[in-house]
Amino acid sequence: MKSILDYETVALVDEDDAIEIINQTLLPGKTEMIRLRTGEEIWNAIYLLQVRGAPAIGVAAGFGLYILMKHSKAETFSEFMTELKEKSDYLNSSRPTAVNLSWALKRMEAHVVKVAKERRMTEEDGAGSFDRDALITEMREESERIKAEDIDVCRRIGENGLTLIKDGFGLLTHCNAGQLATCKYGTATAPMYLAHEKGMNIRVYCDETRPLLQGARLTAFELQSAGIDTTLLCDNMSASLMKTGAIDAIFVGCDRVAANGDAANKIGTSVVATVAKRYGIPFYVCAPTSTIDINTNTGDDIKIEQRKPEEVTEMWYKERMAPEGVKVYNPAFDVTDNELITGIVTEFGVLRAPYDVSIAELFDRM
Ligand code: MRU
Repeated sequence: MKSILDYETVALVDEDDAIEIINQTLLPGKTEMIRLRTGEEIWNAIYLLQVRGAPAIGVAAGFGLYILMKHSKAETFSEFMTELKEKSDYLNSSRPTAVNLSWALKRMEAHVVKVAKERRMTEEDGAGSFDRDALITEMREESERIKAEDIDVCRRIGENGLTLIKDGFGLLTHCNAGQLATCKYGTATAPMYLAHEKGMNIRVYCDETRPLLQGARLTAFELQSAGIDTTLLCDNMSASLMKTGAIDAIFVGCDRVAANGDAANKIGTSVVATVAKRYGIPFYVCAPTSTIDINTNTGDDIKIEQRKPEEVTEMWYKERMAPEGVKVYNPAFDVTDNELITGIVTEFGVLRAPYDVSIAELFDRM
């Protein structure tokens, strides 16, 4: 029987002018594939978390921008760029915290500009040189490269993270930084999948992750489908679990790492990191370099998405479980201070504190 890991999180269906995604809001009960064709459909799918997780959002945005530009009628390079920027700004407004969204859109735009300059298609190069179809083909190829690189990067994060795991380890994770949040392997789960592949005996504990239950609905589901020893717990149980000594290391994903190593991830991550420090448990953030934003100085500069109160008061319950009219605090992410992070696992290796130095050195080398 087909497992959830056999489905592609995000795929381009070029012949149908569509992106195909797994509708993650229905998992684990129902595996439904949906096709997104219009700007509004793509925007809504990202906002509603039908496709979610920083790298997967980036891949969807790259494919999305290509699909939206595929039938452009622009007659000049500047018309093409005006249209592209408008569509890119619109997609970028769907969620603010995961930097992979703007990273992928900027990468698509930069690639178009580079090719147009190389092939002398801009207005400065004179009329008649603009080749719209060539630029559209380039957009498709660049969006496919973003996806292929995501798979390769996650695999390398897995290999680097695996060096931090020993046979018999108990591991804790928060939210879903798994295959469903990327195109394969995940980030925080990649070392787990590789450890399992190598026959290592690991136990993985998944925080359920209120209010949207990505840990329960997605991480527990995909790890269990892979045959990994998986245990689910409510978010408020992780301190008691850590105190028992069952956890040897914690791996989480992230949505944006600032230049000083502060890391925004799903709400509740900083609680886990704080408690881990109390019990001396190593806390690792897994981050592709596309999630490191050297233009954001510290965690205080990261915009945190605020979401609807109903996610806390009503969602998942048969009837509302909070008094009508009560005020609700519902940030989707929090920032873990760099001093709580034992290491940042990237595709190029494990960065250690001081992160302002190790991150700057990594970006200088890239
Ligand atoms: O709101 P979500 O479900 O998109 O939040 C996802 C996370 O916080 C993940 O940990 C993060 O995007 C890393 S995914 C590899």
